[in-house]
Amino acid sequence: MTVGNVANIEHLKDHVEQEVILKGWLYRGRSSGKVLFLVIRDGTGLCQCIVEKGKVSDELFEQLKRLGQESSLTVTGAVRAEDRSVGGYELAVTDAQIVSPADGYPITPKSHGIDFLLRHRHLHLRSQGQWCIGKIRHTIIDAIRRFYNDNGYTLIDTPVLTAVAGEEKQSLFEVDYFGSPVHLSQTGQLHLEAAAMSFGKVYCFGPTFRAEKSKTRRHLTEFWMVEPEVAYIDLDGLLELAENFVSFIVAKVLENNSSQLETLGADITALEKIKPPFHRLTYTDSVEILTSDRAKDFLAGQLEESKSQKQQIESRIGELEDEQKGQIKQWKRDKNAAELIELRSELAEADTMIENNPKHAQLAAEFRWGKDLGGSDETVISQMHDKPVFVTHYPKQAKAFYMKADRDNDKVVLNFDLLAPAGFGEIIGGSMREDDHDLLVSRIKEQDLEIENYEWYLDLRKYGSVPHGGFGLGVERTVAWITGQKHIRQCIPFPRMMDKIYI
Ligand code: 4AD
Ligand code: MG
Repeated sequence: MTVGNVANIEHLKDHVEQEVILKGWLYRGRSSGKVLFLVIRDGTGLCQCIVEKGKVSDELFEQLKRLGQESSLTVTGAVRAEDRSVGGYELAVTDAQIVSPADGYPITPKSHGIDFLLRHRHLHLRSQGQWCIGKIRHTIIDAIRRFYNDNGYTLIDTPVLTAVAGEEKQSLFEVDYFGSPVHLSQTGQLHLEAAAMSFGKVYCFGPTFRAEKSKTRRHLTEFWMVEPEVAYIDLDGLLELAENFVSFIVAKVLENNSSQLETLGADITALEKIKPPFHRLTYTDSVEILTSDRAKDFLAGQLEESKSQKQQIESRIGELEDEQKGQIKQWKRDKNAAELIELRSELAEADTMIENNPKHAQLAAEFRWGKDLGGSDETVISQMHDKPVFVTHYPKQAKAFYMKADRDNDKVVLNFDLLAPAGFGEIIGGSMREDDHDLLVSRIKEQDLEIENYEWYLDLRKYGSVPHGGFGLGVERTVAWITGQKHIRQCIPFPRMMDKIYI
């Protein structure tokens, strides 16, 4: 092989006019007789490699021409700037080595159903979409740790196996622990409260388990949650912490992942608006909004918009399908096929919007004070705002036992949900914690929880109780919102859902 420097595709800009070696996989290839266009991926990006007949041996040229998608190979060549090429650089190939040829790779540019892709997730991770999401998820997780580490928080690892329930009892995964039933943690919060009384400002970050029977686009059975907990804070302080935190995450993604956001078609202008202060509504305000004419008009307008979008998409699909029936170049055929996949998924989205709209409108109009906000109510409120919205002071009856009752209005608790904008819905849930021993005992009893399991938790209210609170941010929901994914199953490498645990 020609002597040269091994380079990563993401660093090609530093090697223009130099000879480099790329080590990767064949993402796609096409031939126009005397020239091969091989798009190679190496884990850091994509690069089009041009192989001209005569510049490499005839034998190698033929081997490369027949090389299957996802074959592994190394290529040597000179880097040149080329605006029209993916990533902005190309390689003029002078040599190549096939490391391991692949034949019949199952994921082709044609459309595959989501079930097929989930069953092939081990391979689908190599696709551009999954790669972009994975890079952004990495930035988000790094930003989460950085934010707390740089702001005086101590990381506390809370247990996964526990005897106490933090959230709804129905969603506990039971585990046989040497003959006794325990369960997988639904939240690190209760243990974190103990740690906050030692360290002041703490956070935990780990996998979280909920036996969610609902098969919605917002629910996984295993997801990642970061939870800060702070002693001597109040509700306003928590909201400020949450808006600074979320804005910091978004800023880091904009700083590090603009090309991935672009590839995914995420709304970068909308993300640039994510700066404090966020909107603040009470639960009671949001009930008024949901049942108002404003919400009704908003939903009616949205229905019209979805219908006209649907028409436009259908007519473009018709155009492309006609083109595909005729004589066209292979590259054009592939390009059209890719656009058709996109359009069909947009069409399915528009159909879902049209189908859900009347249900959302009815649920909103009939909403009564006292119920928890459901997924569709959150969708409506968040669609009506272009920045995240805090909804605070929910009815006590609808919320978890640990939330602190508002001393000025005993019917509500000092809590909040943060709804991401543009219909995405809840990404954070948090609250002040009940710090009065006796009030907490009665809440535990009211919710039919076994008081013996909570003795240690009650101790925190016996020995130096202080006002304290915190919240939990779901990583996958945050990734889905920022990257513009409709379903959070795309936002974790190996998703677990009620009916799916393939790989
Ligand atoms: O609102 P939740 O249930 O709050 C708690 O667990 C609190 N104990 C947190 C705290 O105060 N320390 O969950 C917090 C967040 C949600 O806003 C959502 O982003 C995510 O966790 N989440 C889920 N994400 C994916 N799949 C699920 N089944 C989820 N359930 C909650
Ligand atoms: Mg919640």
